[in-house]
Amino acid sequence: MELSRSHAEQLDKRDPLGAFRSKFLIPENENGQRIYFLGNSLGLQPKSTQTAIDFVLQQWANEGVESFHKGERPWLNLHDQLVQPVSTIVGAHKQEVSIMGQLTVNIHLMMVSFYRPNGKRRKILMEAKAFPSDQYAVHSFVSHMGLNPDEDILLVHPAPGTSHIDETHLLDVIEQHRDELALVFLGGVNYYSGQLFDIKTISAAAKKAGAMVGWDLAHAAGNVELRLHDWQVDFACWCSYKYMNGGPGAVAGIFVHSNHLHDPACKKLTGWWGYKREERFKMHDRFQPEPDATAWQVSTPSMLLYACLKSSLILVEEAGWSSILSKQYQLVEWIKAVISDLRSPLFTCITPDSRGCQVSLLFHEKGRMVYDRLFEKGFMVDWREPNVIRLAPVPLYNTFTEVWMFREAMKEILHELE
Ligand SMILES: Cc1ncc(COP(=O)(O)O)c(C=O)c1O
Repeated sequence: MELSRSHAEQLDKRDPLGAFRSKFLIPENENGQRIYFLGNSLGLQPKSTQTAIDFVLQQWANEGVESFHKGERPWLNLHDQLVQPVSTIVGAHKQEVSIMGQLTVNIHLMMVSFYRPNGKRRKILMEAKAFPSDQYAVHSFVSHMGLNPDEDILLVHPAPGTSHIDETHLLDVIEQHRDELALVFLGGVNYYSGQLFDIKTISAAAKKAGAMVGWDLAHAAGNVELRLHDWQVDFACWCSYKYMNGGPGAVAGIFVHSNHLHDPACKKLTGWWGYKREERFKMHDRFQPEPDATAWQVSTPSMLLYACLKSSLILVEEAGWSSILSKQYQLVEWIKAVISDLRSPLFTCITPDSRGCQVSLLFHEKGRMVYDRLFEKGFMVDWREPNVIRLAPVPLYNTFTEVWMFREAMKEILHELE
């Protein structure tokens, strides 16, 4: 691949999504727009989000609680308007998706439904170094069930000398523990290394072993292609503040495979927002679930958060999910070429070839200095203790030229520090 500014500019010129950048608020410094490669942490704010929030505030001001049912955009319709684009993004049927709550809380709710320890079959397989909140959630849930997390959580470690997990080894571990596994629960894209797992193959292996399989898709939803229904994933959860640009603390989402929606063995913790919608306000004593994944909703969702997410999903629909994915593939190839060109004794790229937009650079020394220099030069990337810089240029608002500028900035910095 030709690594030149003119090639990057040509790629940008030909980019059918080029116009979408101007629909986002790009952070600035005294020199103008900064280069934001933090879509894996907090996606940028669409310009339309302010108007969407103002609209809900105005509804609240004008009609109060009546706004749930009345007006041109009743709040009760918002959930279904979100489910449509999100099911496309995660590759699900509409009835398998619910937009609700927050990621870690949803992991607990999913554990209630899908962690079903029974005799010897009670282990949960996770990646060592899963995102800490996942570890805390699973650990506390296993303890809550009266089991021993030290025995019943089975950790798969990265291959020696690397930061990513060898999938053949992972599949072997599933096979070796086939009679003991109750659940396989992994992150679709690892937050630290950026490794994208083969969700289809691992899910099939887990099911063949007789286990349930669930995925934390915080770093995968809105980033990579997913086909949760076809891949027979039992459940998944994700947040919407990263690649879906739903805003800080955005409302999250869950997927429950249609195989489980009417299965009485699939227990859940319930609340009135999961009650059959046509009778929800009749205030019956006994719970009757919605016939779809909305049955897992517990509490009244925030209409402000729904409005934020809707404003960003409108952009995804306008751009087209398949166009976003094809720019993502091109961008990933471009980033790979740029990073491998930056050979330096100071760092190793720990992201394997199977990846989404994120690249993680493990620094052997001077990592913090590189991060600080990048920041001074207007680049917003992510510093992960103890020594990793993560960067994630994303299709909707980043450009090929920005990635090329990153290469130039890094060359200067590395030249100065090596
Ligand atoms: C992989 C992963 N899991 C869980 C979480 C925690 O999410 P929340 O704070 O929304 O519960 C995060 C947050 O970034 C994450 O990246």
